[in-house]
Amino acid sequence: MKILLCFGTRPEAIKMATLYHKLKDSNFEIKVCVTAQHRQMLDQVLNFFEIIPDYDLDLMQPSQSLNGLSAKILSKIDKVLLLEKPDLVLVHGDTTTSSMVALAAFHLGIKVGHIEAGLRTYNKQAPFPEEINRQITSRIVDIHFTPTKQATQNLLCEKISRESIVQTGNTVIDALFWTISKIQSANYKNEEIEQLKKIVSKGKKIILVTGHRRENYGEGIKNLCKALLKISERDDVTIIYPVHLNPNVKDIVHELLSNNKNVKLVEPLSYPAFVWLMQQSFLVVTDSGGIQEETPSLGKPVLVTRNVSERQEGVDAGFSILVGTNTTKIIEGIQNILNNFTGFKNKMSPYGNGDASKKIVDYLLKLY
Ligand code: UD1
Ligand code: UDP
Repeated sequence: MKILLCFGTRPEAIKMATLYHKLKDSNFEIKVCVTAQHRQMLDQVLNFFEIIPDYDLDLMQPSQSLNGLSAKILSKIDKVLLLEKPDLVLVHGDTTTSSMVALAAFHLGIKVGHIEAGLRTYNKQAPFPEEINRQITSRIVDIHFTPTKQATQNLLCEKISRESIVQTGNTVIDALFWTISKIQSANYKNEEIEQLKKIVSKGKKIILVTGHRRENYGEGIKNLCKALLKISERDDVTIIYPVHLNPNVKDIVHELLSNNKNVKLVEPLSYPAFVWLMQQSFLVVTDSGGIQEETPSLGKPVLVTRNVSERQEGVDAGFSILVGTNTTKIIEGIQNILNNFTGFKNKMSPYGNGDASKKIVDYLLKLY
Protein backbone atom coordinates (compact mmCIF):
# COMPACT_ATOMS: atom_id res chain seq x y z
CA MET A 1 0.00 0.00 0.00
CA LYS A 2 1.61 3.22 -1.18
CA ILE A 3 0.65 6.64 0.24
CA LEU A 4 1.78 9.94 -1.26
CA LEU A 5 1.75 12.99 1.02
CA CYS A 6 1.55 16.29 -0.89
CA PHE A 7 1.92 19.75 0.60
CA GLY A 8 3.48 23.09 -0.23
CA THR A 9 3.31 25.74 2.50
CA ARG A 10 4.62 26.25 6.03
CA PRO A 11 1.39 25.38 7.88
CA GLU A 12 0.67 22.28 5.80
CA ALA A 13 4.19 20.99 6.47
CA ILE A 14 3.86 21.57 10.23
CA LYS A 15 0.50 19.79 10.27
CA MET A 16 1.69 16.84 8.14
CA ALA A 17 5.00 16.34 9.99
CA THR A 18 4.00 14.01 12.82
CA LEU A 19 1.67 12.13 10.50
CA TYR A 20 4.58 11.60 8.08
CA HIS A 21 6.72 10.11 10.84
CA LYS A 22 3.91 7.92 12.20
CA LEU A 23 3.14 6.61 8.70
CA LYS A 24 6.83 5.94 8.08
CA ASP A 25 6.92 3.88 11.30
CA SER A 26 4.01 1.75 10.07
CA ASN A 27 4.09 -0.77 7.22
CA PHE A 28 2.96 1.64 4.51
CA GLU A 29 5.22 2.71 1.68
CA ILE A 30 5.43 6.51 2.06
CA LYS A 31 6.42 9.08 -0.54
CA VAL A 32 6.43 12.86 -0.12
CA CYS A 33 5.96 15.48 -2.81
CA VAL A 34 6.27 19.17 -1.97
CA THR A 35 5.01 21.70 -4.48
CA ALA A 36 7.13 24.31 -2.65
CA GLN A 37 4.37 26.89 -3.06
CA HIS A 38 6.42 28.40 -0.21
CA ARG A 39 10.20 28.08 -0.30
CA GLN A 40 12.18 29.41 2.70
CA MET A 41 9.20 29.06 5.06
CA LEU A 42 8.62 25.47 3.92
CA ASP A 43 12.29 24.54 4.12
CA GLN A 44 12.46 25.75 7.75
CA VAL A 45 9.80 23.16 8.63
CA LEU A 46 11.26 20.34 6.52
CA ASN A 47 14.61 20.85 8.27
CA PHE A 48 13.23 20.91 11.78
CA PHE A 49 10.99 17.86 11.34
CA GLU A 50 13.60 16.01 9.25
CA ILE A 51 11.39 15.42 6.25
CA ILE A 52 13.24 14.69 3.02
CA PRO A 53 10.84 14.99 0.07
CA ASP A 54 11.02 12.45 -2.74
CA TYR A 55 9.80 15.14 -5.14
CA ASP A 56 10.27 18.90 -4.89
CA LEU A 57 8.37 20.77 -7.61
CA ASP A 58 10.04 24.04 -6.56
CA LEU A 59 7.12 26.15 -7.79
CA MET A 60 7.35 29.34 -5.70
CA GLN A 61 7.71 32.57 -7.65
CA PRO A 62 7.83 36.04 -6.09
CA SER A 63 4.25 37.37 -5.85
CA GLN A 64 2.88 34.31 -7.63
CA SER A 65 -0.69 34.53 -8.92
CA LEU A 66 -3.32 32.04 -7.79
CA ASN A 67 -4.12 30.98 -11.38
CA GLY A 68 -0.49 30.73 -12.46
CA LEU A 69 0.36 28.60 -9.44
CA SER A 70 -2.75 26.42 -9.85
CA ALA A 71 -1.90 25.68 -13.49
CA LYS A 72 1.68 24.79 -12.62
CA ILE A 73 0.65 22.46 -9.80
CA LEU A 74 -1.85 20.63 -12.03
CA SER A 75 0.66 20.06 -14.78
CA LYS A 76 3.64 19.14 -12.56
CA ILE A 77 1.86 16.87 -10.09
CA ASP A 78 0.39 14.88 -12.98
CA LYS A 79 3.82 13.42 -13.78
CA VAL A 80 4.48 12.48 -10.14
CA LEU A 81 1.11 10.76 -9.82
CA LEU A 82 1.57 8.84 -13.07
CA LEU A 83 5.04 7.72 -12.07
CA GLU A 84 4.26 6.74 -8.46
CA LYS A 85 0.70 5.43 -8.95
CA PRO A 86 -0.09 5.77 -5.21
CA ASP A 87 -3.07 3.96 -3.70
CA LEU A 88 -3.89 7.06 -1.68
CA VAL A 89 -2.88 10.71 -1.79
CA LEU A 90 -3.07 12.76 1.43
CA VAL A 91 -3.54 16.52 1.22
CA HIS A 92 -3.99 19.06 3.97
CA GLY A 93 -6.28 22.00 4.61
CA ASP A 94 -7.06 24.88 2.32
CA THR A 95 -4.20 25.94 0.09
CA THR A 96 -3.84 26.11 -3.69
CA THR A 97 -1.62 23.04 -3.33
CA SER A 98 -4.27 20.99 -1.50
CA SER A 99 -7.17 21.75 -3.84
CA MET A 100 -5.14 21.38 -7.06
CA VAL A 101 -3.41 18.15 -5.97
CA ALA A 102 -6.78 16.68 -4.94
CA LEU A 103 -8.22 17.61 -8.34
CA ALA A 104 -5.25 16.12 -10.22
CA ALA A 105 -5.50 12.85 -8.27
CA PHE A 106 -9.25 12.68 -8.91
CA HIS A 107 -8.67 13.15 -12.66
CA LEU A 108 -6.41 10.09 -12.57
CA GLY A 109 -8.81 7.98 -10.50
CA ILE A 110 -6.56 8.02 -7.41
CA LYS A 111 -8.18 8.05 -3.96
CA VAL A 112 -7.60 11.13 -1.80
CA GLY A 113 -7.70 11.68 1.97
CA HIS A 114 -8.13 15.22 3.35
CA ILE A 115 -6.48 16.13 6.65
CA GLU A 116 -8.18 19.01 8.54
CA ALA A 117 -11.42 18.60 6.59
CA GLY A 118 -14.74 20.30 7.22
CA LEU A 119 -13.72 23.81 8.35
CA ARG A 120 -16.16 26.39 7.01
CA THR A 121 -17.25 30.01 7.17
CA TYR A 122 -19.63 29.66 4.18
CA ASN A 123 -18.37 33.10 3.12
CA LYS A 124 -16.61 32.91 -0.26
CA GLN A 125 -14.60 36.04 0.45
CA ALA A 126 -13.28 35.18 3.92
CA PRO A 127 -10.94 33.50 4.12
CA PHE A 128 -10.18 34.10 0.42
CA PRO A 129 -9.53 31.84 -1.46
CA GLU A 130 -9.24 29.22 1.28
CA GLU A 131 -12.97 28.78 1.96
CA ILE A 132 -13.53 27.72 -1.63
CA ASN A 133 -10.34 25.61 -1.68
CA ARG A 134 -11.79 23.71 1.28
CA GLN A 135 -15.20 23.27 -0.33
CA ILE A 136 -13.69 22.09 -3.64
CA THR A 137 -11.48 19.62 -1.80
CA SER A 138 -14.41 18.24 0.20
CA ARG A 139 -16.36 17.59 -3.01
CA ILE A 140 -13.46 15.58 -4.44
CA VAL A 141 -11.93 13.50 -1.66
CA ASP A 142 -12.78 9.99 -0.46
CA ILE A 143 -11.80 10.20 3.22
CA HIS A 144 -12.35 13.29 5.39
CA PHE A 145 -10.22 13.53 8.56
CA THR A 146 -11.96 16.20 10.62
CA PRO A 147 -10.39 18.00 13.60
CA THR A 148 -13.55 18.81 15.59
CA LYS A 149 -17.21 17.90 16.08
CA GLN A 150 -18.23 21.13 14.33
CA ALA A 151 -16.15 20.22 11.25
CA THR A 152 -17.77 16.77 11.16
CA GLN A 153 -21.19 18.38 11.47
CA ASN A 154 -20.47 20.76 8.58
CA LEU A 155 -19.68 17.84 6.29
CA LEU A 156 -22.74 15.87 7.38
CA CYS A 157 -24.88 18.92 6.57
CA GLU A 158 -23.30 18.88 3.09
CA LYS A 159 -24.54 15.29 2.67
CA ILE A 160 -21.10 13.74 2.91
CA SER A 161 -21.55 10.17 4.13
CA ARG A 162 -20.77 9.52 7.80
CA GLU A 163 -18.72 6.43 6.85
CA SER A 164 -16.20 8.57 4.97
CA ILE A 165 -15.61 10.95 7.93
CA VAL A 166 -13.06 10.23 10.66
CA GLN A 167 -12.87 12.70 13.56
CA THR A 168 -9.32 12.87 14.87
CA GLY A 169 -8.46 16.22 16.46
CA ASN A 170 -6.00 18.53 14.74
CA THR A 171 -2.50 17.28 13.88
CA VAL A 172 -1.14 20.75 14.72
CA ILE A 173 -1.51 19.85 18.39
CA ASP A 174 0.64 16.74 17.82
CA ALA A 175 3.30 18.95 16.23
CA LEU A 176 3.04 21.50 19.03
CA PHE A 177 3.42 18.97 21.86
CA TRP A 178 6.25 17.16 20.09
CA THR A 179 8.05 20.47 19.61
CA ILE A 180 7.55 21.61 23.20
CA SER A 181 9.04 18.40 24.51
CA LYS A 182 11.94 18.73 22.07
CA ILE A 183 12.78 22.33 23.08
CA GLN A 184 12.50 21.44 26.76
CA SER A 185 14.89 18.51 26.47
CA ALA A 186 18.16 19.01 28.35
CA ASN A 187 20.62 19.17 25.47
CA TYR A 188 18.48 21.07 22.94
CA LYS A 189 20.25 24.14 21.53
CA ASN A 190 18.68 26.70 19.19
CA GLU A 191 20.53 29.83 18.11
CA GLU A 192 17.28 31.63 17.12
CA ILE A 193 15.89 31.12 20.63
CA GLU A 194 19.14 32.48 22.10
CA GLN A 195 18.77 35.59 19.91
CA LEU A 196 15.12 35.99 20.93
CA LYS A 197 16.08 35.83 24.60
CA LYS A 198 18.00 39.08 24.01
CA ILE A 199 14.85 40.93 22.89
CA VAL A 200 12.44 39.37 25.38
CA SER A 201 12.89 41.96 28.15
CA LYS A 202 12.32 40.79 31.67
CA GLY A 203 9.19 42.25 33.24
CA LYS A 204 7.65 43.37 29.94
CA LYS A 205 4.55 41.78 28.46
CA ILE A 206 5.26 40.22 25.06
CA ILE A 207 2.70 40.80 22.33
CA LEU A 208 3.37 38.38 19.48
CA VAL A 209 1.97 39.45 16.11
CA THR A 210 1.61 37.71 12.74
CA GLY A 211 -0.53 38.34 9.67
CA HIS A 212 -0.76 37.31 6.04
CA ARG A 213 -4.38 36.92 4.87
CA ARG A 214 -5.23 38.19 1.40
CA GLU A 215 -8.45 39.85 2.69
CA ASN A 216 -6.21 41.99 4.93
CA TYR A 217 -3.79 43.22 2.22
CA GLY A 218 -3.69 47.03 2.10
CA GLU A 219 -6.06 48.70 4.58
CA GLY A 220 -6.28 45.76 7.00
CA ILE A 221 -2.53 45.51 7.49
CA LYS A 222 -2.15 49.30 7.68
CA ASN A 223 -4.84 49.48 10.39
CA LEU A 224 -3.14 46.71 12.37
CA CYS A 225 0.20 48.57 12.17
CA LYS A 226 -1.44 51.82 13.35
CA ALA A 227 -2.91 49.98 16.33
CA LEU A 228 0.48 48.46 17.17
CA LEU A 229 2.11 51.91 17.01
CA LYS A 230 -0.39 53.19 19.57
CA ILE A 231 0.14 50.18 21.85
CA SER A 232 3.92 50.54 21.55
CA GLU A 233 3.63 53.83 23.50
CA ARG A 234 3.08 51.72 26.64
CA ASP A 235 6.38 51.07 28.37
CA ASP A 236 5.26 47.72 29.82
CA VAL A 237 5.13 45.92 26.44
CA THR A 238 7.44 44.56 23.77
CA ILE A 239 5.80 43.78 20.45
CA ILE A 240 7.52 41.02 18.44
CA TYR A 241 6.38 40.58 14.87
CA PRO A 242 7.86 37.79 12.68
CA VAL A 243 6.93 39.22 9.28
CA HIS A 244 5.56 36.88 6.56
CA LEU A 245 7.73 36.89 3.41
CA ASN A 246 4.82 37.81 1.15
CA PRO A 247 5.78 41.23 -0.34
CA ASN A 248 2.16 42.41 0.04
CA VAL A 249 2.66 42.07 3.78
CA LYS A 250 6.35 42.63 4.31
CA ASP A 251 6.69 45.95 2.51
CA ILE A 252 3.89 47.76 4.38
CA VAL A 253 4.84 46.33 7.79
CA HIS A 254 8.47 47.43 7.43
CA GLU A 255 7.47 50.85 6.11
CA LEU A 256 5.13 51.53 9.06
CA LEU A 257 6.78 49.78 11.99
CA SER A 258 10.55 49.95 11.50
CA ASN A 259 12.56 52.09 13.91
CA ASN A 260 10.23 51.79 16.90
CA LYS A 261 12.04 50.75 20.08
CA ASN A 262 9.10 48.71 21.40
CA VAL A 263 8.40 46.91 18.11
CA LYS A 264 10.81 44.20 16.98
CA LEU A 265 10.34 43.09 13.38
CA VAL A 266 11.99 39.74 12.74
CA GLU A 267 12.18 37.25 9.86
CA PRO A 268 9.77 34.27 9.91
CA LEU A 269 10.91 32.07 12.78
CA SER A 270 11.57 28.37 12.60
CA TYR A 271 8.80 26.37 14.26
CA PRO A 272 10.64 25.62 17.55
CA ALA A 273 11.61 29.29 17.95
CA PHE A 274 8.05 30.40 17.23
CA VAL A 275 6.62 27.90 19.71
CA TRP A 276 9.11 29.09 22.34
CA LEU A 277 8.07 32.68 21.68
CA MET A 278 4.36 31.85 21.96
CA GLN A 279 5.13 30.35 25.38
CA GLN A 280 6.80 33.61 26.49
CA SER A 281 3.97 35.81 25.19
CA PHE A 282 1.23 37.49 27.16
CA LEU A 283 -1.02 37.67 24.14
CA VAL A 284 -1.01 36.90 20.42
CA VAL A 285 -2.51 39.08 17.66
CA THR A 286 -2.91 37.21 14.38
CA ASP A 287 -5.03 36.34 11.35
CA SER A 288 -3.40 32.91 11.12
CA GLY A 289 -5.45 29.74 11.22
CA GLY A 290 -2.85 27.48 12.81
CA ILE A 291 -2.01 29.94 15.58
CA GLN A 292 -5.69 30.13 16.59
CA GLU A 293 -5.46 26.36 17.11
CA GLU A 294 -2.17 26.34 19.00
CA THR A 295 -2.73 29.14 21.51
CA PRO A 296 -5.51 27.42 23.53
CA SER A 297 -3.14 24.54 24.34
CA LEU A 298 -0.64 27.12 25.63
CA GLY A 299 -3.25 29.03 27.64
CA LYS A 300 -2.59 32.24 25.69
CA PRO A 301 -5.36 34.61 24.59
CA VAL A 302 -5.50 35.45 20.89
CA LEU A 303 -6.98 38.47 19.16
CA VAL A 304 -7.94 37.50 15.64
CA THR A 305 -7.75 40.29 13.05
CA ARG A 306 -10.61 38.82 11.03
CA ASN A 307 -14.38 39.28 11.01
CA VAL A 308 -15.16 35.57 10.68
CA SER A 309 -13.21 32.45 11.50
CA GLU A 310 -13.53 28.87 10.34
CA ARG A 311 -12.09 28.10 13.80
CA GLN A 312 -15.21 29.27 15.65
CA GLU A 313 -14.67 26.61 18.35
CA GLY A 314 -11.86 28.70 19.87
CA VAL A 315 -14.07 31.80 19.84
CA ASP A 316 -16.99 29.96 21.48
CA ALA A 317 -14.70 28.56 24.18
CA GLY A 318 -13.41 32.07 24.95
CA PHE A 319 -9.79 31.56 23.78
CA SER A 320 -10.04 33.74 20.64
CA ILE A 321 -11.63 37.12 20.13
CA LEU A 322 -12.50 38.31 16.62
CA VAL A 323 -11.58 42.00 16.37
CA GLY A 324 -11.50 42.49 12.59
CA THR A 325 -9.16 45.15 11.22
CA ASN A 326 -10.59 48.33 12.68
CA THR A 327 -7.72 50.18 14.39
CA THR A 328 -9.77 51.29 17.41
CA LYS A 329 -11.17 47.80 17.99
CA ILE A 330 -7.69 46.27 17.83
CA ILE A 331 -6.33 48.83 20.30
CA GLU A 332 -9.27 48.30 22.68
CA GLY A 333 -8.92 44.52 22.40
CA ILE A 334 -5.21 44.58 23.18
CA GLN A 335 -5.57 47.07 26.08
CA ASN A 336 -8.36 45.02 27.58
CA ILE A 337 -6.30 41.83 27.61
CA LEU A 338 -3.14 43.59 28.83
CA ASN A 339 -5.05 45.17 31.71
CA ASN A 340 -7.48 42.42 32.70
CA PHE A 341 -6.40 38.93 31.55
CA THR A 342 -5.55 36.65 34.46
CA GLY A 343 -5.54 33.25 32.77
CA PHE A 344 -7.99 30.63 31.51
CA LYS A 345 -9.31 28.58 34.39
CA ASN A 346 -9.56 24.85 33.55
CA LYS A 347 -10.51 25.38 29.94
CA MET A 348 -9.72 22.61 27.46
CA SER A 349 -8.51 23.24 23.92
CA PRO A 350 -11.22 22.34 21.41
CA TYR A 351 -8.61 21.22 18.86
CA GLY A 352 -7.48 17.90 20.31
CA ASN A 353 -4.92 16.42 22.64
CA GLY A 354 -2.04 15.45 20.41
CA ASP A 355 -3.09 12.03 19.13
CA ALA A 356 -4.62 13.02 15.78
CA SER A 357 -1.82 11.50 13.67
CA LYS A 358 -2.11 8.21 15.55
CA LYS A 359 -5.86 8.13 14.94
CA ILE A 360 -5.35 8.75 11.23
CA VAL A 361 -2.74 5.99 10.94
CA ASP A 362 -4.87 3.55 12.98
CA TYR A 363 -7.81 4.20 10.65
CA LEU A 364 -5.70 3.68 7.52
CA LEU A 365 -4.20 0.47 8.93
CA LYS A 366 -7.70 -0.91 9.51
CA LEU A 367 -8.92 0.23 6.11
CA TYR A 368 -6.07 -1.30 4.15
C1 UD1 B 1 -0.59 30.66 1.47
C2 UD1 B 1 -1.96 29.96 1.48
C3 UD1 B 1 -2.68 30.25 2.78
C4 UD1 B 1 -1.83 29.93 3.97
C5 UD1 B 1 -0.49 30.67 3.86
C6 UD1 B 1 0.39 30.27 4.99
C7 UD1 B 1 -3.12 29.76 -0.66
C8 UD1 B 1 -4.10 30.34 -1.57
N1 UD1 B 1 -2.80 30.48 0.42
O1 UD1 B 1 -0.80 32.06 1.43
O2 UD1 B 1 -3.87 29.47 2.84
O3 UD1 B 1 -2.50 30.35 5.13
O4 UD1 B 1 0.12 30.30 2.63
O5 UD1 B 1 1.44 31.15 5.19
O6 UD1 B 1 -2.64 28.68 -0.90
N2 UD1 B 1 6.90 33.98 -0.11
C9 UD1 B 1 8.29 33.91 -0.05
N3 UD1 B 1 8.85 32.85 0.60
C10 UD1 B 1 8.15 31.89 1.23
C11 UD1 B 1 6.74 31.99 1.19
C12 UD1 B 1 6.12 33.03 0.51
O7 UD1 B 1 8.99 34.74 -0.59
O8 UD1 B 1 8.73 30.96 1.80
C13 UD1 B 1 6.26 35.10 -0.85
C14 UD1 B 1 6.38 34.92 -2.37
O9 UD1 B 1 6.53 36.17 -2.97
C15 UD1 B 1 5.02 34.32 -2.73
C16 UD1 B 1 4.11 35.08 -1.78
O10 UD1 B 1 4.87 35.13 -0.55
O11 UD1 B 1 4.67 34.53 -4.08
C17 UD1 B 1 2.74 34.50 -1.54
O12 UD1 B 1 2.77 33.10 -1.29
P1 UD1 B 1 1.42 32.23 -1.56
O13 UD1 B 1 1.73 30.81 -1.23
O14 UD1 B 1 0.85 32.52 -2.89
O15 UD1 B 1 0.34 32.81 -0.61
P2 UD1 B 1 0.31 33.07 0.90
O16 UD1 B 1 -0.22 34.42 1.01
O17 UD1 B 1 1.61 32.75 1.51
N1 UDP C 1 4.76 29.84 12.50
C1 UDP C 1 6.16 29.64 12.46
N2 UDP C 1 6.98 30.73 12.36
C2 UDP C 1 6.52 32.00 12.30
C3 UDP C 1 5.10 32.20 12.32
C4 UDP C 1 4.27 31.11 12.42
O1 UDP C 1 6.62 28.50 12.53
O2 UDP C 1 7.32 32.94 12.23
C5 UDP C 1 3.87 28.67 12.58
C6 UDP C 1 2.73 28.75 13.58
O3 UDP C 1 3.13 28.24 14.85
C7 UDP C 1 1.65 27.90 12.93
C8 UDP C 1 1.89 28.11 11.44
O4 UDP C 1 3.21 28.58 11.31
O5 UDP C 1 1.81 26.52 13.21
C9 UDP C 1 0.91 29.10 10.90
O6 UDP C 1 1.26 29.44 9.60
P1 UDP C 1 0.59 30.66 8.83
O7 UDP C 1 0.10 31.66 9.80
O8 UDP C 1 1.56 31.08 7.79
O9 UDP C 1 -0.62 29.96 8.05
P2 UDP C 1 -2.13 29.58 8.45
O10 UDP C 1 -2.10 28.79 9.71
O11 UDP C 1 -2.89 30.86 8.58
O12 UDP C 1 -2.62 28.79 7.28
